[in-house]
Amino acid sequence: MTSNITRGNFLKGMAVGTVAGFFASQGISSTIFRSYLVPEKKRKSIDIGELKGITIKTISETSWFDNYVQQNDFKKAGGSLVSQYDVAFSTKGVAAGYQGNNAGGYSSLIEFEFMDGSKKKLLLDTGWNVDWMTRRYQEEGIDKMLRNNEIDVLFISHDHYDHYWGIEAAFKFKPDITMMIPNSFMENSYKLLSGGNFPKPPIKNAIPFKGKLIKHDLKKIYPLYPGVAAVTFACPCGRGVWGEQVLVCNVAGKGVATITGCCHMGLITLLEYIKNNIKGGDKVYGVYGGLHISPYDDWNPQNDDLVRTIRNYKVERLACNHCTGYITVEKMIATGVPVVKGTARNKTKRDIYLGNGDTMVL
Ligand SMILES: [Fe+2]
Ligand SMILES: [Fe+2]
Repeated sequence: MTSNITRGNFLKGMAVGTVAGFFASQGISSTIFRSYLVPEKKRKSIDIGELKGITIKTISETSWFDNYVQQNDFKKAGGSLVSQYDVAFSTKGVAAGYQGNNAGGYSSLIEFEFMDGSKKKLLLDTGWNVDWMTRRYQEEGIDKMLRNNEIDVLFISHDHYDHYWGIEAAFKFKPDITMMIPNSFMENSYKLLSGGNFPKPPIKNAIPFKGKLIKHDLKKIYPLYPGVAAVTFACPCGRGVWGEQVLVCNVAGKGVATITGCCHMGLITLLEYIKNNIKGGDKVYGVYGGLHISPYDDWNPQNDDLVRTIRNYKVERLACNHCTGYITVEKMIATGVPVVKGTARNKTKRDIYLGNGDTMVL
């Protein structure tokens, strides 16, 4: 009813009294009228400073290797309401898997270059399958970087199985790294951190964490470095996980970039947050990470509008992978979103993702 109401029609309606009837039935919260009648709250945008550039390397984006096997594991466990720690995941006989195990994981290395030329490295998430993640860390030299104290912080976006359960792979090389987590971890996720063993999924961490743990409250912004902040969202992530933190960066002369684990808060929610809260955020220079739109490539037609809306944020470069979904990326490319492609190697299946071993420079 409201979709074709213009400001002119609205004023005409005021004159003849039809609008009053509309409010009686719909209320002032009806979104199209709200913007006319309720002055927009002026938000103070936050200046996070600026940095020279960012280099992002995908260490592993293959969170799991076979969609059907993954979905079937959840189905057998009782559906999507079941906690991730109560699911028996397939660890044998998966043709596409790593040594038959369907578990892979998501982890990326982020290198920030500051205005004075100095650099800092951050490891985003630790994947899932400890053997697969150990192999990927060794192949990309992350093992040595951890051993040599070259990685400043381990930043966990959220405690989903495919982003967090591989912590033992990182602790093998540096159990006392400084770690940042959203302050909404599941109780079992804390147990895993201190050396827990969960035979059912199965997942274990034989190397208890010995470093400094920094917990970020939800719905907050935490400055990390000049031009880099962590932003925490209170959002449902599924399988018992709640809350996710993302990185928001301001690249000098280019614009704001965001780096996500899964983007469970929703891509448009994130881009709106940046636009409304971060200085310079009306121009989004870069987006990287999992965008959680069609993780199993079953398409919800409402997401066509989501994909079309991305262009409104003037995104200059977008690289995504794992839970984004191939259908989503195909549609992004079709609607003119500037997708940065990868090379489809190290078990990444298609080049429309920034895949395992691929790099994006912002
Ligand atoms: Fe994800
Ligand atoms: Fe997730």
